[in-house]
Amino acid sequence: MHWEPADMPDQTGRTALVTGPSVGGLGYVTALELARKGARVILAGRSQEKVAAAADEVRRELPDAEVETLTVDLSRLDSVRRGAAEAARFGSIDLLVNNAGVMGTPYQRTDNGLELQMATNHFGPFLFTGLLLPQLVASADGRVVMVSSMFHKFAGRPPLGDPRQQVGHYRRWRVYGQSKLANLLYAGELDRRMATAGLPVKALAAHPGFAGTHLAANGQYGRSSGGVASILDAGIRAVSQSAASGAAPTLMAATADLPGDSFVGPSNLGQMQGPPRTVGRSRLAHDQVAAARLWEISEETVGLSYP
Ligand SMILES: NC(=O)c1ccc[n+]([C@@H]2O[C@H](COP(=O)([O-])OP(=O)(O)OC[C@H]3O[C@@H](n4cnc5c(N)ncnc54)[C@H](OP(=O)(O)O)[C@@H]3O)[C@@H](O)[C@H]2O)c1
Repeated sequence: MHWEPADMPDQTGRTALVTGPSVGGLGYVTALELARKGARVILAGRSQEKVAAAADEVRRELPDAEVETLTVDLSRLDSVRRGAAEAARFGSIDLLVNNAGVMGTPYQRTDNGLELQMATNHFGPFLFTGLLLPQLVASADGRVVMVSSMFHKFAGRPPLGDPRQQVGHYRRWRVYGQSKLANLLYAGELDRRMATAGLPVKALAAHPGFAGTHLAANGQYGRSSGGVASILDAGIRAVSQSAASGAAPTLMAATADLPGDSFVGPSNLGQMQGPPRTVGRSRLAHDQVAAARLWEISEETVGLSYP
């Protein structure tokens, strides 16, 4: 099945909330293309300035777009709770794209005692999605898309230990892989729980292959410009597919007629680039026992049980 963003059905009347919408990243393109098809888009990021800049860019390209903004730091559970409470004003939400993420960050614990990559990429989105669930259900046709990665294949094992304890040496790439495996386990478990509860929400996952964004520089240097960060950022862009191409799998997972728990990624060069299609996942990512255990750990960690 050949699919491209132009194939997206009309999104008029639908509301899409996209996390991590900073200009230059995948979330920005995702929101822009959904807005181009008529969706009301809610740009949700941790920096008020960057979110405002992204909203300005969308409005510059699409003057009639309906664009809303929300400030939420997904690595902080208190911020997620505040952001989700503020999001109540948007009413029903048809699509939640959990795109925001960090990669390969140096060892750091958040105020809640969680490792930064797991906090940002998994626990924050787990809490955010749970708190927004009533609004997704209210849409009567809700969809959640988790932006995972090929790195899920390097997880080694699922992250089922105590998330507030560091056991052994911190391996940043291994932990990134575990956070992206968590995205896949979560999408599957969420989809199953929605079906069991008879709730009208599907969960799917996507990965962008290798796309030229600020992810690598942000992760290594905490910024994407200045000195070595600029060099790394430019180097990544030179050898990868565009952010626009990288967002295509997310857009397909968000809008195509696909079953819940589908995983969408690029079709060429070992899934590094090319048009999107449904793809396979690692053996660990199929483990429903691990997915159920991760759900329990996540509920305990964020202090919210759902559905
Ligand atoms: N690019 C790739 O090749 C690639 C490959 C596989 C998977 N991915 C996944 O794609 C997703 C998007 O990444 P990207 O490539 O577009 O990277 P990016 O350019 O660095 O964008 C990441 C976005 O996430 C936001 N973010 C980071 N920490 C956050 C937090 N604590 N709270 C709220 N927002 C936060 C960033 O905000 P700031 O601008 O404020 O930092 C930015 O808007 C990530 O989940 C990543 O794991 C990307």
